[in-house]
Amino acid sequence: MATKQQLEDAVSKRRTFAIISHPDAGKTTITEQLLLFGGVVREAGTVKGRGSSNFAKSDWMEIEQKRGISVTSSVMQFDYDGKRINILDTPGHEDFSEDTYRTLMAVDSAVMVIDGAKGIEPQTRKLFQICKMRGIPIFTFINKYDRDAREPLDLMNEIEETLGIETYPMDWPIGMGRQFMGVYDRHNHRVALTHPADESKPYLPLDENGEVIGENPLAGEGEWEDALEGMELISEAGSEFSVEKVAAGDQTPVFFGSALTNFGVKTFLETYLKYAPAPSVHKTEEGKAIDPLSPEFSGFVFKIQANMNPKHRDRIAFVRVCSGEFDRGMDVTLERTKKPLRLSNVTEFMANTRENVEKAVAGDIIGLYDTGNFQIGDSIYTGKEDIKFEKLPQFTPELFVRVSAKNVMKQKSFHKGINQLVQEGAVQLYQNYNTNDYILGAVGQLQFEVFKFRMQNEYNSEVIMEPMGKKTARWINPDQLDPKMSSSRNILVKDMQGELLFLFENQFAENWFKQKYPDVELTSKL
Ligand code: G4P
Repeated sequence: MATKQQLEDAVSKRRTFAIISHPDAGKTTITEQLLLFGGVVREAGTVKGRGSSNFAKSDWMEIEQKRGISVTSSVMQFDYDGKRINILDTPGHEDFSEDTYRTLMAVDSAVMVIDGAKGIEPQTRKLFQICKMRGIPIFTFINKYDRDAREPLDLMNEIEETLGIETYPMDWPIGMGRQFMGVYDRHNHRVALTHPADESKPYLPLDENGEVIGENPLAGEGEWEDALEGMELISEAGSEFSVEKVAAGDQTPVFFGSALTNFGVKTFLETYLKYAPAPSVHKTEEGKAIDPLSPEFSGFVFKIQANMNPKHRDRIAFVRVCSGEFDRGMDVTLERTKKPLRLSNVTEFMANTRENVEKAVAGDIIGLYDTGNFQIGDSIYTGKEDIKFEKLPQFTPELFVRVSAKNVMKQKSFHKGINQLVQEGAVQLYQNYNTNDYILGAVGQLQFEVFKFRMQNEYNSEVIMEPMGKKTARWINPDQLDPKMSSSRNILVKDMQGELLFLFENQFAENWFKQKYPDVELTSKL
């Protein structure tokens, strides 16, 4: 058992984050660079198959076959500069955004990667909103400045206006594309050069007034003058850097660079490590703050992944540690059932290996080999006090299919498969209130494809899926339910928690219902 001081030292070193971005902005490339700095991989291009932009069904199937690789990289841990970094990877495709949303509940900060030519894209905006809702700090890296990009001021304005967060440029690009000469790094009082004449001197130091000390090879260049002008404008009209605002998620420090040429990533990492928060309190459902330094262990399951390794039919519950210290073989209570559990078969995730974990503290992610005990959102803890962490957000699916087993003799594997995949959060399951038919709900079509593929491959259950199209799902208070409310324009179903909801044919059908039953309260999830 660690002393309080040891625990404090360990927790203060942890930095746990996820990268949020629109596909193709450069998340994979940056992740690889970070792992290179961490000494986890030796060359770029080893993290995972590329091409998430053209990520289609067939790609997914391929990834599925290489699952061992793609999934071990879903949590990456490495040490850098005295810190222990946990990067939680998130699926690139928007059809899997539910998975990403839940993962964002398990991080202490987020890194937003933006393509300098494209600015804020839809997926970035959605994921940003979740981070904002949690009030976690967000650090921004504007990527691909080695190509033609948008003007930095224009990008700053867009971030401020569309996302509603104050920006603080930590540095400012000098040129772009072929003329990308470097960045004016006001935070570290230096100019970083993309092509220094002397490789051993990549920086030009700045004095208190922001003037280059010594000879300036960029002097007289139009790009240099423009950068100085931009910096001046920002210094006069822009905001002040505020550690407090950053910590509260009200200001985002912005960095410019090029992940592909590895320019700016190291500065980004080092500055990020300085200002990103160590794990802090996590709230319980009753609003009680659980101190990461509490001697009692606690954590919650934010992701479940079955059959990561097809050879070993395993199922892993990913747990974010929130307090205390995990010890191999320890006994915990599973909050949902109040039953004791021994955590002996546990794994830690590295980029290229899965190692057995001995000890983990707040901020770390542990993978528990699961024989069906866990559900997404479960809390586990030691000690007498019952700890139930805040609910993970639930989502309102928009697409629905009716699902049944093709072979009626194979109901058992059908049910087993459905249950496990639903517990993983791969799709949402509903049952028709009147007929008991199974209905699946998803955010994107690809979730159904994956479901079908996995049912067949992992549970040997061929399924029939009849598309029901888009529906508007609205939950209803059961006390207000009246059989008269059923119509051809809606379907009454129950969700996995037994709560009742209507699937309306469309917005029009919902409005019509609201007019007819003005007192009935209809609610949606996120
Ligand atoms: P993602 O994970 O966010 O989807 O993006 P990823 O890193 O896979 O990058 C998407 C594409 O953008 C890749 O090109 C990658 O090489 C390129 N890229 C990433 N960072 C930069 C950068 O700083 N500058 C430039 N010019 N390009 C960058 P690709 O052609 O799709 O893949 P590949 O064939 O190069 O592997």
